[in-house]
Amino acid sequence: MIEETRTVFWENGQVCMIEQRLLPHEFKIVRYDTYQEVGDAITTMVVRGAPAIGAAAGFGMAIAAFNSQATTVEGLQADLKTAKDFLAKARPTAVNLFWGLERMMRVVEKPGWASADALRQGMLAEAQKIADEDIEINKRMGANGAALVPQKATIIHHCNTGSLATVGWGTALGVVRSAFEQGKDLFVLVDETRPRLQGARLTAWELKNMGVKHMVIADGASGHYMRRRGVDLCLVGADRIAANGDTTNKIGTYNLAVLAHENHVPFYVVAPYSTIDMSILHGDLIEIEEREQEEVTVIQGQRIAPEGSPAGNPAFDVTPNYLISGIVTEYGVIRQPFAVNLAKLAAEIKGKA
Ligand code: MRU
Repeated sequence: MIEETRTVFWENGQVCMIEQRLLPHEFKIVRYDTYQEVGDAITTMVVRGAPAIGAAAGFGMAIAAFNSQATTVEGLQADLKTAKDFLAKARPTAVNLFWGLERMMRVVEKPGWASADALRQGMLAEAQKIADEDIEINKRMGANGAALVPQKATIIHHCNTGSLATVGWGTALGVVRSAFEQGKDLFVLVDETRPRLQGARLTAWELKNMGVKHMVIADGASGHYMRRRGVDLCLVGADRIAANGDTTNKIGTYNLAVLAHENHVPFYVVAPYSTIDMSILHGDLIEIEEREQEEVTVIQGQRIAPEGSPAGNPAFDVTPNYLISGIVTEYGVIRQPFAVNLAKLAAEIKGKA
């Protein structure tokens, strides 16, 4: 039952994760005992994908609570603030990391904890809730997004947004899963997603396990397939969506969106409401993670660029809102104008809270 294993979970007092860097060749669960190890696992991409990072941060805070030697509520609260500051440095772009940490900090700062142990239990319960809710939200997004998928469809997908990028089910790939389970005849063109190959390694693995027809393509081939084969829609995830709908996602998403626009292919972003950052007005204000040059210049231990040739390695890019046909959330599909419609959704959600 490999496909049903949660990407990140709590077991026997440890934070457990699927070691994604080994896939598709090896399926291994790694177990961590400290919040520092959890932070490193996020930085080094043992766990990756915005919602999975948010859930990992939640469990990181829970393990920090159980490891703290504090005997008073105040002492534990101080230790948890230190853990939060550490975890917040793990990766800069996916807002779900900060969303998860803030949610955990609301528990930390809730007045009236009777004891440090009660707060410890409260932390674990909240982390577990984030994880459980993630799957439920993804299934709702899956149903909302599946309504956009024709009965027979060719889809281009970028990066990995499946079960592995979340606690379970997935966002954009969750839409593919939901549409497939409804009996739709799907063919997915899987962008390999240089430089870390989340598409070729992880998305292809998930689609193969699900039995969905697919083909891995070089990132540069998507325009060719749009012109020659006919593509019905593009589905991508998001790491942070600004208040005007500009969307940060895996590097190459912007290229794909421009090609989709040029070829009149609908381009949908699929993301939970927690990925929308209403405090950021537009995408150019979002910090883009720059990763090591070797991710670009070295393949499987072998340097492919000449020594001395530097490489740029932005992990994400920003797709401007006008290239996006719709943003699929658990609350439905948000259409343009995004600045107006995202503000409306935010106000509705605030009203209900
Ligand atoms: O660098 P990664 O692998 O964490 O980047 C992941 C992506 O860009 C995903 O598309 C995004 O997090 C959405 S996943 C549901």
